[in-house]
Amino acid sequence: MGNIFVILKPIIHVVMKAAGMTSQLVEIEPGTTMHFWVPTESIHPNNKLTNKSPVLFVQGFVANGIVTWLFQVLSLCSNFAVYVPDLLFFGDSITTRPERSTSIQAECLAKGMMKLGVEKFSLVGFSYGGMVGFKLAQLYPHMVESMVMTSAVIEMTESISNASLKNIGFTNWPDFLLPKTVSGVKMLLSIGTQKLPWLPEFFYKDSHETMFGNRKKKVELLEALVVSDKDATIKTPNYSQRIYILCGDDDKIFNKTFSDDMKKKLGENATVHYIKDAGHLVHLERPYIYNHYLTKFLSSS
Ligand SMILES: *[C@@H]1O[C@H](CO)[C@@H](O)[C@H](O)[C@H]1NC(C)=O
Ligand SMILES: *[C@@H]1O[C@H](CO)[C@@H](O)[C@H](O)[C@H]1NC(C)=O
Ligand SMILES: *[C@@H]1O[C@H](CO)[C@@H](O)[C@H](O)[C@H]1NC(C)=O
Ligand SMILES: *[C@@H]1O[C@H](CO)[C@@H](O)[C@H](O)[C@H]1NC(C)=O
Repeated sequence: MGNIFVILKPIIHVVMKAAGMTSQLVEIEPGTTMHFWVPTESIHPNNKLTNKSPVLFVQGFVANGIVTWLFQVLSLCSNFAVYVPDLLFFGDSITTRPERSTSIQAECLAKGMMKLGVEKFSLVGFSYGGMVGFKLAQLYPHMVESMVMTSAVIEMTESISNASLKNIGFTNWPDFLLPKTVSGVKMLLSIGTQKLPWLPEFFYKDSHETMFGNRKKKVELLEALVVSDKDATIKTPNYSQRIYILCGDDDKIFNKTFSDDMKKKLGENATVHYIKDAGHLVHLERPYIYNHYLTKFLSSS
């Protein structure tokens, strides 16, 4: 039998097409290309721009954009204009630029959205994608209408990184997020969920073979992610957007103390909601309830 993720790729393409989404490679600049799933109607030259509100979904550090957000995209794409990019060095996005910080991811996302003709959108960020999202909103405040942050922190300071690694029993991020063995993949998913559902052995083996490529570049992204406490933004920027922190109540990577601290830093424009019996991967573990709260927030602007 072939690799399940290789088999799933064309199936996901068919499902996405049927859901009204199209795959686009966007040249951000020479040497930098980002892959996006976009609403088919948004690129059709004879169609007027869709009047649905645009929502940008930013992936976490494992898998690619669409695998991260599949349940949300299928649930939201009939009511919102959904955009799902692969971040640089994930999926089909690539750059020859040397920077590895969240700023470069944010800059390319913003430029990509402008090239796709979207100048203002709501942003939904998961984990690493949340940190990229906060950076995007800081660099391009006028582009971001509102933000939903799931299982994220504003910035990965050394203290946050140390505390979080200690909680999960690791000494560095690549060992955890870029496992070299099949049992490492199991550990990753087991820490990522509140309760890991039974999955066949080949699922772990196949994920291990397909999801952790580009290792050297990804290690560089993780090295650039952690910033010294001293260099961290002295003061949290005053985000003018409404911010909805939507997390699992049993996130082992960033527990409630991290989200509550973040809410305190963000102040009056942020609200927090915890989903019961869910871990870091709350949007995959509790998709119906997650989509319910996500839709409610995005519809209320
Ligand atoms: C984080 O951990 C590293 C390695 O143990 C240590 O060198 C560093 O001082 C710690 N930083 C903070 C802010 O606790
Ligand atoms: C944020 O707003 C407060 C009060 O309005 C102000 O004192 C502070 O300087 C602002 N911070 C930044 C980083 O702009
Ligand atoms: C909340 O948003 C308003 C505008 O929407 C902004 O003026 C204010 O500074 C924000 N507050 C904080 C604490 O960031
Ligand atoms: C979250 O983790 C931090 C750092 O280890 C710890 O101090 C705190 O008590 C934890 N909070 C919860 C709610 O478990």
